[in-house]
Amino acid sequence: MKKITVLLSALAVAGSLFAGEHPVKAQIAKYEAEAGEPLDAARGKELWEKKIPGEKFDKSCTNCHNADVTQPGKNKAKKDKKIKPMALSANPNAYKRPLKVEHNFNKYCEKVYGQKCTAREKGDMLLYLSQQ
Ligand code: HEC
Repeated sequence: MKKITVLLSALAVAGSLFAGEHPVKAQIAKYEAEAGEPLDAARGKELWEKKIPGEKFDKSCTNCHNADVTQPGKNKAKKDKKIKPMALSANPNAYKRPLKVEHNFNKYCEKVYGQKCTAREKGDMLLYLSQQ
């Protein structure tokens, strides 16, 4: 009986290792290591919703992504194109490809803030989005 219990608990541990954590966890850890300080989801939310005054309209991540991250977003230019929700709970397939995540951060941080985001900024936002 004892052997079976030991075997079962060993299997449970192996299972949790191999069941595969969502890749976003490793990416958040990587940004945190690069940032060299603890990440902060509240700071990420603030940055995500921040509006940068523009000539024609204010710029923000929420121009395309929904401010309520559990809801789909919309591209203003292509109105028919829906963007999947950014909250991990609403879209478990989000953030599965680290290169895509990095690419989009680079692209849209430049568009919205006029410069690339730092590791801390990316990590803060990704932490926030992954916890929703
Ligand atoms: C002009 C519209 C637009 C703006 C503004 C925008 N995004 Fe996006 N974003 C998109 C689209 C479209 C996608 C691709 C969605 C998909 O793959 O389904 C995307 C995807 C992403 C992804 C990748 C998601 C994944 O599952 O890998 C991240 C991260 C992201 N955006 C972050 C941001 C951040 C941070 C901002 C603000 C600095 C921002 N976006 C502003 C349109 C936008």
